[in-house]
Amino acid sequence: MGNPRVSVVITGFEARHYDELLDFLTLFYYGKFIRKLMYEETKVSYGDKVVELGVGNGRNAILLSDRVGDDGVVVGFDISPDMLKRAKEKTRKYGNIKILRHDIRKEFTPKFYNYFDVALISLAFHGFEPEDKERIFENVRNILKNGGRFFILDYNQIELAKAPRWFKILIERFECSLAEDFLNYDLLSAAKKFGFELTKKKTYFKNTVQYSEFTLKK
Ligand SMILES: C[S@@+](CC[C@H](N)C(=O)[O-])C[C@H]1O[C@@H](n2cnc3c(N)ncnc32)[C@H](O)[C@@H]1O
Repeated sequence: MGNPRVSVVITGFEARHYDELLDFLTLFYYGKFIRKLMYEETKVSYGDKVVELGVGNGRNAILLSDRVGDDGVVVGFDISPDMLKRAKEKTRKYGNIKILRHDIRKEFTPKFYNYFDVALISLAFHGFEPEDKERIFENVRNILKNGGRFFILDYNQIELAKAPRWFKILIERFECSLAEDFLNYDLLSAAKKFGFELTKKKTYFKNTVQYSEFTLKK
């Protein structure tokens, strides 16, 4: 994409071993955290059609495939060929998961319009320019049914100066500048512009991470 502010497009070794690296760097805590979140917090029902934007290696898709069962489907979109390759390998045995290449800033094919009950973007939304965030809201609005839900797992809007030291180091030394901008992003107003109302919010890791659920009114 040629934009140095953006670091959510992951390629090469990091992409092929994304899930394992995240587990290793968090001393295997992340795996337990995301499993608990997907099983206990997300309101996904049997038969639901779920879309993940920026599916990565497919970890969330696999967790959600259990929940939607044989009558549902989980469609994961990504732009990175390395991520897509690994996600396809990991999800091959799950008949209800489809992994597809698509840039989520671009319009989806109309065959997906009003198709999904649930959309999820996990650890990726912060890495888009403000105008791309708006495009993503608009694209999600198109593919979700009226009353559908949009889940965002990402950094929380907090004052960096008051954040724990480890979080400051993460944001200032290891993250793209868009991640720092996201801490001041008016997520609720942006979501509202596209018809999304916040219906649930939980925060984790000393308020640094949010899991927000929005409901769409068309
Ligand atoms: C940090 S990873 C998170 C992966 C996964 N959602 C998870 O939580 O494990 C971000 C993902 O977003 C994908 N991504 C970034 N920009 C994208 C775009 N414009 N369209 C589709 N996927 C994109 C990256 O390739 C990467 O797989």
